[in-house]
Amino acid sequence: MPNRKLVTRRQALWLSLGTLTSIGAIATAKAGYESQQIESLDNSKRNFKVAAYTPLKKRAATKGIIYGAAIRRDLLQSNPKLAASFAQQCGILVPEWELKWNFLRPTPNRFDFTAGDWLAKFARTHGMLFRGHTLVWHEALPPWFKGVVNRQNAEKFLVEHIATVTKHYAGQVHSWDVVNEATKPGDKRSDGLRNSPWLKFLGPDYIELAFRVAAEKDPKALLVYNDTELEYDIPEHEATRSAILKLLERLKSRGTPIHAFGIQSHLWGHENRFNPKKLRKFLADVASLGLKILVTELDVRDKNLPKDLKLRDRVVAATYEDYLSVVLDEKAVIAVLTWGLSDRDSWISKYAPRSDGLAVRPLPFDSNLKPKLAWNAIARAFDRAPKR
Ligand code: XIL
Repeated sequence: MPNRKLVTRRQALWLSLGTLTSIGAIATAKAGYESQQIESLDNSKRNFKVAAYTPLKKRAATKGIIYGAAIRRDLLQSNPKLAASFAQQCGILVPEWELKWNFLRPTPNRFDFTAGDWLAKFARTHGMLFRGHTLVWHEALPPWFKGVVNRQNAEKFLVEHIATVTKHYAGQVHSWDVVNEATKPGDKRSDGLRNSPWLKFLGPDYIELAFRVAAEKDPKALLVYNDTELEYDIPEHEATRSAILKLLERLKSRGTPIHAFGIQSHLWGHENRFNPKKLRKFLADVASLGLKILVTELDVRDKNLPKDLKLRDRVVAATYEDYLSVVLDEKAVIAVLTWGLSDRDSWISKYAPRSDGLAVRPLPFDSNLKPKLAWNAIARAFDRAPKR
């Protein structure tokens, strides 16, 4: 029962806080308020030792797993040290921005592949795989979208977009996030689908259509349905998990060319409503449909954790290790990507900044590209993972 043991260890981390502080301080720490009483976790029994600093991509590869990260062209171009670390650590690259609609389509009639091509070449030059993200998403639509796309022409725009982009990169892409975040139980539809512009214009079948067009133009790529906010044992995430299962079952039963599920995995360091058994069951259910699974956007928000750097890094690392240990237990999981490599460039600094103004620390490398405990945690999870 390795998973149960892990939860116990995570709880032990918080308990060890309790031995250093009062119960009240634990509650304060969990609620995200700074407390003078919180001390570092140096005394904690838990360690994040690794035998050697073998790069993550190699450790993962030993187990038949691909490790990589999201990155942007501007970052690689302006920071040679980052480019070197990226090439050393990553076996797969996914553009954080460059293949989204708003980047690719400056005007309704023009595609600009410059930045995406640069990243594809960087990946190729350094012997990395290349991932596509994402062909259909309700966010990251260009400013012109609203005034131009409507019920009458939506299908033409969707099909033309997917066909053009997948054809352009055909043969170069390991996997495409064909549709991203199409569920939203909060929108109160009986199928749990999000009331996105695509759904409003085309109905639920836009999802199947998207996969069919992608498969036709790039038969080699693994075609992925990618989604978010489903990792925890809370009613909203439970509802998302069942909406996703329903969607995947429907797609499979109709013979849709879908090959994998992407679990984004934007985690919270303070969140303890993590239920390994339920997540494990969900992953097994997905796998039983004949689908592979990719962890596509892993990071750990430290917004609600105390200021103390050591403590914060320990909790973030524990979150990584506990989560990955559960997820990698499922052999259908073939890849793990973090959403960035270095804290300096994480989207979390804008999306979920700390209220005390301190820099966020959600990723495996710090701002100077030094590996943190989170790096050790990921390495340890790979080292312990069963072989695929
Ligand atoms: C984010 C990027 O990291 C940000 O820089 C951008 O402004 C917004 O999008 N889920 C996804 C990713 O699928 O595309 C998002 O990326 C993060 C959440």
